[in-house]
Amino acid sequence: MAPALYTEVVNIRLDRVLASQGYGSRKRVKRLVKAGRVRIGDRLAVDPAEKIDPRRVAIYVDDVLLTYRRHLHVAVHKPPGILSATADANDPVVLDLLPEALYRRELGLAGRLDKDAEGLVLLTTDGQLAHRLTHPRWKVEKEYLVWTEAPIGDADMAAFAEGVAGFLPAKLVALEDGRARVIVREGKYHQVKRMFAAIGKPVRRLVRVRIGPIRLDGLKVGESRMLDDAEVARLYRSVSLEVG
Ligand code: URA
Repeated sequence: MAPALYTEVVNIRLDRVLASQGYGSRKRVKRLVKAGRVRIGDRLAVDPAEKIDPRRVAIYVDDVLLTYRRHLHVAVHKPPGILSATADANDPVVLDLLPEALYRRELGLAGRLDKDAEGLVLLTTDGQLAHRLTHPRWKVEKEYLVWTEAPIGDADMAAFAEGVAGFLPAKLVALEDGRARVIVREGKYHQVKRMFAAIGKPVRRLVRVRIGPIRLDGLKVGESRMLDDAEVARLYRSVSLEVG
């Protein structure tokens, strides 16, 4: 009897598989194959157009076994001045921050940050995941550090807990150094700025430090990294999806 998994036959060109796993553009992965750096099982791959089922064969690049993932998920630390977009005619975009090995045209944004805002942006090839992470129905928490014109007091925290400017209740905590931490569960246009404007304390600087279970921690400004398996599992679970 056929195994429960992988019942359908999948045949994908080797260069497509490698490009989809973050080994670079189709041109670059073709060069990898031609340079003899790719093995399929115990034989050398010679034809980048060879069709394989990446879930059934062992692929090695430079003798390292490739763990095939249908989708890629990338965290980026966006600096101010960069657009949350995958392409733009005038301004640099978050996709420009990825190293060539992670560059994939199919990566889409799971939520935006304003051009002047900083912090965590998630990119994923899974459109359904991106949709759920941004749709208000799934109430995914987004956590921000906020620098305001005037200090945050108890009345402000109480107002946020009730809900300001028509937004859902949010958790606002004043930090000792004059900053504040806010956790919202929607992702509306200019939401945090509008909430602080509603209490008369405009935002001077905004940094997103968390989206659901994924934290910015450890990513320097302008850096990106692929999410690890545990993070991917937590991310899918947070929006009631099976890992794709
Ligand atoms: N809220 C804002 O006002 N701006 C952002 O970029 C994100 C949340």
